Amino acid sequence: MTLVDTPADDAKGATAPAKPELISVEQAKTLDAATVADLFTRHLNPGQLHFMKLLGFDKVIIDRAEGMHYIDRDGRRILDFFGGFGSLAPGHNHPRILAVRKKFANERRHEIAMAFLSQYAAALASNLAAVSPGDLDMVFLGSSGSEAMEAAIKVAEQAQGPKRSKIVYAENSFHGKTKGALSITDGPLYRSDFALLDNIVRVPFGDIDAIRCAIEADPEIGIVVLETIQGGGGIVEAPAGYWRALRALCDEHEVLWIADEVQCGLGRTGKFYAFEHEGVVPDVTALAKSLGGGKCAMGAMIARRDVYMKAYGQPKTALIHGPATFGGIGEACCTAIEMLNILYDERLIENAARQGDYLIKRLNALKQKYPKIIKDVRGRGLMVGLEFQDFSSTMPFGVKQLVSVLDDKLKGSLCGFVGSLLLADYNVLVAFTEYNRNVIRLEPPLIVRKTDIDTFVDALDALLARGILRIVRDFIKRHAKG
Ligand SMILES: Cc1ncc(COP(=O)(O)O)c(C=O)c1O
Repeated sequence: MTLVDTPADDAKGATAPAKPELISVEQAKTLDAATVADLFTRHLNPGQLHFMKLLGFDKVIIDRAEGMHYIDRDGRRILDFFGGFGSLAPGHNHPRILAVRKKFANERRHEIAMAFLSQYAAALASNLAAVSPGDLDMVFLGSSGSEAMEAAIKVAEQAQGPKRSKIVYAENSFHGKTKGALSITDGPLYRSDFALLDNIVRVPFGDIDAIRCAIEADPEIGIVVLETIQGGGGIVEAPAGYWRALRALCDEHEVLWIADEVQCGLGRTGKFYAFEHEGVVPDVTALAKSLGGGKCAMGAMIARRDVYMKAYGQPKTALIHGPATFGGIGEACCTAIEMLNILYDERLIENAARQGDYLIKRLNALKQKYPKIIKDVRGRGLMVGLEFQDFSSTMPFGVKQLVSVLDDKLKGSLCGFVGSLLLADYNVLVAFTEYNRNVIRLEPPLIVRKTDIDTFVDALDALLARGILRIVRDFIKRHAKG
């Protein structure tokens, strides 16, 4: 018995367009690495493939993923210390996340609820208000961090009005690639030559005097947007006391503070939100990444009730930034609801704090052991940065030439060599950093155990013991082998 009516019978006799040659799902699962690379070049992003090839990542086709690991076609288990830049708090394919999604589908629940009130969106919004301090009570649901940040700057601008719409943002910030979020994202890498918002003022990150000067000099400034811990900037924290001072400054000048917690939120730093370490509450915040349980696209903007009501609280303003087609769809909302429950039931926030301390302790011991290679270890909880010495000026001439032939971007940065060899020789995956090419980013799932940390740090230790020259040589050899 079919549960869904098909129009095929009704359409008999009419001219049907010929079906193009389409790849089926089952075929997609079995494509080999060369075909995937070819399709990637022809239809997705040839330039990106260039970097994947350089690092040797293009050879790996992942078959499955569970917990802390990716598993490739040959059954090789790859320990994930990248964690999708903070998108995998519960690990890969957490059983409770899978169960909720499967049940939702089996029960044939609805996804698109634009015509009706969604019980799932309402429950998720209520849960987000419950985990958020103060009167961060009003929620907009979207499908990405960029969309959550767009919602954040729009609610703040709408609440402040056109005379106070200027936005302060930070050097080395990353808030997303849609045009509004990109306008407050620093650095030529992403900004390119796009025509972006011009009502923006850039200040150094973590410098309260710089923000004070900017605000006092320009009464049109009504919004400050900052990541609580900079991810793309290379895991950078503001000095102690900064957020309390910022809160007081914003209150004094009636400026709205937006805290971007897309990467550092959801328990990663040992508190649900990283700003909670200073006991302060912003006016607006944003979450995404792990909110989707590592399984789906979900983003949320959470605003103080009075800010939200000022912006969109009336029927005539309610639709100015109402939900998009996929904002708050059923299964994604239920996944996020389950994610929040797992976070507390499995004490993942506490685990992030404890394992993060252990990871930083072990990395600091490596720094003592290899002072000429490791410059700095920093971070909070499971948002950790490992900065290598920049050896671009000290590299022997011959090696420098060899490396620059490979690629301009890798020249002088140990991260590419280390990341590539950690994967090839030790089955460990780490992440790089957009703005600081000497920083490796470590954002493992919050389910990480001490033994995983030992496996990772022991692998890094064994690799660094080869010394810089051998690391570069081994990388080049591997690259030459193809
Ligand atoms: C701090 C921060 N904000 C916003 C974003 C944008 O999120 P998305 O890639 O989901 O659009 C990111 C993504 O890395 C991020 O790290």
